[in-house]
Amino acid sequence: MYSSSNVVFLLNILVLIFLVKAVISVKGHCPARCVCSTIEGSCVELSLTKFPEERFPGSLMKLDISRNLISELGEYTIRYWMIVSLRKLNLSNNAINRINEQSLMGQSGLKELDLSGNEITTIPPKTFVYPPHLQWLSLANNGELEMPEDAPLLESSSLKVLHLEHCNIDRISVINLQKVMELEELYISHNRIEVIATENEGETSALKNLKVLDVSHNQLQELPPEILALLSLETLVLRKNKLKVLGEMKYSGEFCEKDLYAETHIKTVSS
Ligand SMILES: *[C@@H]1O[C@H](CO)[C@@H](O)[C@H](O)[C@H]1NC(C)=O
Repeated sequence: MYSSSNVVFLLNILVLIFLVKAVISVKGHCPARCVCSTIEGSCVELSLTKFPEERFPGSLMKLDISRNLISELGEYTIRYWMIVSLRKLNLSNNAINRINEQSLMGQSGLKELDLSGNEITTIPPKTFVYPPHLQWLSLANNGELEMPEDAPLLESSSLKVLHLEHCNIDRISVINLQKVMELEELYISHNRIEVIATENEGETSALKNLKVLDVSHNQLQELPPEILALLSLETLVLRKNKLKVLGEMKYSGEFCEKDLYAETHIKTVSS
């Protein structure tokens, strides 16, 4: 006959076995040579030329596949893994040159995507619309990125931070950023930009939330007054350009730092 404490003891053992099995089965999903915990997966520097086809733990929040040789982000690659919990995805330092417009569909939790150091030339316009909560995106170090002449570079109604450093960009127009209305920080240093085009009034309303603009290490000779007039702008980094004067001020009066701060709310100008 079993006493009740024995029964409790046995039940505890059973619960324990069940839990261990559950953890093992979640951990069990991990592509060969990658390393996974229940919330993090890493396949860094494995010379992969394709995305792993095996499953990752479905509970993953962070996945790092940087430093490989992958050249294409296909329509079903990421959807196939069915990791709806994913928050951060790092695909930097690969050889990605083709991105399917629907490749990020279904990633409703994705907040941070690192695509820096790839070979991206063009981005299908809706690519970043599908992860509806994407806030941070890096396209830095894509040396052949083509800035569309008079069309948006990308579209997102959630993106707050965009990195475009070291992309060999020679011209940027406000129209390129017209469809990233919530953008707060734009890093576009170390390019060859000679002109920031702001064709007509009103267009800069696209940048109404911009707080940080880093255009250092470019070829700018002047800064359009529309940029200085951005109401939310707090930090403007201008060093290493060819600026002589800071544009023609939109407002009357001599240009001086105090006026600049007063007119634009800019707290930091480094030049
Ligand atoms: C992505 O991976 C690269 C290279 O492994 C690393 O330098 C970078 O900081 C990572 N990005 C993020 C956003 O953590």
